[in-house]
Amino acid sequence: MKATLDHVGIVVQDLDRALQFFRDALGLEVSSAEAVAGQRVRVTEVATGGASLEFLESTDPASPVARFLDRRGPGLHHITLAVDDLAATLERLRAHGVKLVDESPRVGVGGSRIAFVHPASAHGVLVELKQSNPTS
Ligand code: CO
Repeated sequence: MKATLDHVGIVVQDLDRALQFFRDALGLEVSSAEAVAGQRVRVTEVATGGASLEFLESTDPASPVARFLDRRGPGLHHITLAVDDLAATLERLRAHGVKLVDESPRVGVGGSRIAFVHPASAHGVLVELKQSNPTS
């Protein structure tokens, strides 16, 4: 199977303040900004040449990202691997006994299909799988 590192997800308390460092001080370029209602977050992507940095700010104190922030504080949240066929990848992982957060793909940033693998099955890393151009 081929997979490409798509982005690194970082939870922040305050998106605007995070951009003061990553955009204004470091000089990185914002490539997209949107609200993802399903995940109750505001998301800003910053380009770095290859994989991008994805900053996540919760819009709801009960969202998964808000709970992460309460438990762990701001910082590294997930890595995202782009795959060609997300459904086939999930099937393959299930066959290997991997614990999934999402049993089937759901809608992510930019209309992509995504699914999360449980960190318990990925050595403490929350792994997001993404298919950019869903066929169905
Ligand atoms: Co992500």
